[in-house]
Amino acid sequence: MEKIVIHGQKPLRGEVTISGSKNAAVAIVPAALLANDIVILENVPDIADITNLVEIMREMQVKVDRLDAHTLRIDSRHMCNDCASSEAVRKMRASYYFLGVLLGRFKHARVAFPGGCDFGVRPIDLHVKGFEALGAEVSTKAIIEMKARELVGTNIFLDFASVGATINIMLAAVLAKGTTVIENAAKEPHVVDTANFLNSMGADVKGAGTDAIRIRGVQKLHGSEYAIIPDQIEAGTYMMASAITGGDVKIKNVIPRHMESVSAKLREIGVSVVEKDDCIHVIGSEHLKPTKVKTMPYPGFPTDMQPQILVLLSLISGTSMVNESVWDNRFRYVEQLRKLGANIDVEGHIAIVEGVDQLQGTEVQATDLRAGAAMVLAGLAAEGSTTITNVQYIDRGYEGMVEKLTSLGACIDRITDDGPMLYTPPQAG
Ligand code: EPZ
Repeated sequence: MEKIVIHGQKPLRGEVTISGSKNAAVAIVPAALLANDIVILENVPDIADITNLVEIMREMQVKVDRLDAHTLRIDSRHMCNDCASSEAVRKMRASYYFLGVLLGRFKHARVAFPGGCDFGVRPIDLHVKGFEALGAEVSTKAIIEMKARELVGTNIFLDFASVGATINIMLAAVLAKGTTVIENAAKEPHVVDTANFLNSMGADVKGAGTDAIRIRGVQKLHGSEYAIIPDQIEAGTYMMASAITGGDVKIKNVIPRHMESVSAKLREIGVSVVEKDDCIHVIGSEHLKPTKVKTMPYPGFPTDMQPQILVLLSLISGTSMVNESVWDNRFRYVEQLRKLGANIDVEGHIAIVEGVDQLQGTEVQATDLRAGAAMVLAGLAAEGSTTITNVQYIDRGYEGMVEKLTSLGACIDRITDDGPMLYTPPQAG
C-alpha cells in the first residue's frame, strides 16, 4: 500500500506541463469503438482510469496498442457488444460511455453497473431517458441491457445539463436515423472535444459548447487520428498549488479560455494570473482576501475544483463560503482537512470557512480523486509532514503528480508501507 508524504511550506517554482484531459479521454477512448476501424489517439493521459478502460476494451476483443506513453492505437473491427461481467466496469463511473457506444454501433448493449467516486447518489436516469427517446428498450436489473431495432433521432431536453448524459446521447445518436437535438446540453470542454473527435470520424455534430447540440445521424464512421485537449482540472490544481505555496509557476499546455472561472476567482482573491497562448503564469501572494464560490456547470466554477479551492480558502484570513450546487454530497473530505487544523463548517450544500494562519501536517486520507488532490495541496502548505493514504484515487486522474510537484521544488515522496492498513477499493470519476 502506497502513501504520499509531503514536507510542506516550500514555495513552488518553475514550469509544469499539463497532460491530456481525463474527462475527455474517458469519453473519447470508448467513442473510438463507434468506427469499426482503426483509431489513433494522441495526448491520452497516462492515468489509472485509462488503464482500466483499456482492460475493459480488451475484454471486449478490441485490439489496443500503446504506441508510446500517450498514444493509443485502437482496432475495434472484431469487438463484441458485451461487458456485463467486467469487474473493471464496476470500478469507474465513466464506463457508462460503453452504453452509448454499444447501443449506437450494435443497437444492443450489455454493460455492468458503473461505479465511481462516492459523493452522494449518482443516478443515470437522464442517460436512460435519452436512450429510450432514441428508441431503445432499457432494462436495469442485475446489469444494464439495451436493445433497439433502430435508433431514430428526436428532440431530447435534459432536466440538468449533465456531462455524462450529453456525451452518452451524442455517442448513440451519431449512428441513428435522422436528426437528434439535445437541449440544455452540457457545455464542458470535454463535451466539445468528444464532438470534435466524432466529427473527425465522419459524424455530423453541430453546436457542441452551446445549449443545443444537433446530431445528424450518418450510416457509418471511419478511423481517424486525433489529439485530446489538455486537462482543465489538472491545470486548475497546479494553479492552486502555486497560489497556496506563495509560488511562481508557469503552467504549460493549457487552453486559458477553459480556465476563465478559476483564473477570475484567483485574481479576485489577490493571486496574480497571467495568460499567454497556451500557458498560465500564477504567482502567489501573502495578502489574499476571502471570497464566495459557487460551483456550476461550465462555464461556471467547476465542481471538480471545489476541494482544491476550499483548501486555499482555509488559509485566507476571514470568512469564505463555498456553495456546491452540482453534487449532493461532495464535502466528505472536509473532515480530513479539519484533522490538519482547518476551520470549516458544512451545512448541507454550503461550507463556511474561517481562515486559519497555518495547517499542521498529520495523516489524512484521499477520500476520492479531487479530495486527494486537495490533501496534496494542504500538505504542500502545511507545517511539518503530511502523510496521505488511499493514493490510488489520485492515480486515477493525475499523471505523475509526485514527479511534477518534485520538479517544481516540492518535498514530496511516495512510500510503501508494509504495515497493516485499512483498504478502500479504488473508485473513479
Ligand atoms: C462528470 O460526471 C465528470 N466525470 C465529473 O468529474 C464531474 O464532477 C461532473 O461531470 C460534473 O462536472 C466525467 O466526466 C467522467 P453529471 P458526470 O452527469 O457526467 C445529476 C472528476 O473528479 N444527474 O454532469 O457523471 C448528478 O447526480 C469527476 O473528474 C442526474 O440526476 O456528472 C449530479 O448532481 C467526478 N441524473 C449532476 O447531475 C443523471 O442521469 C451532474 O452530473 C445524470 C446526472
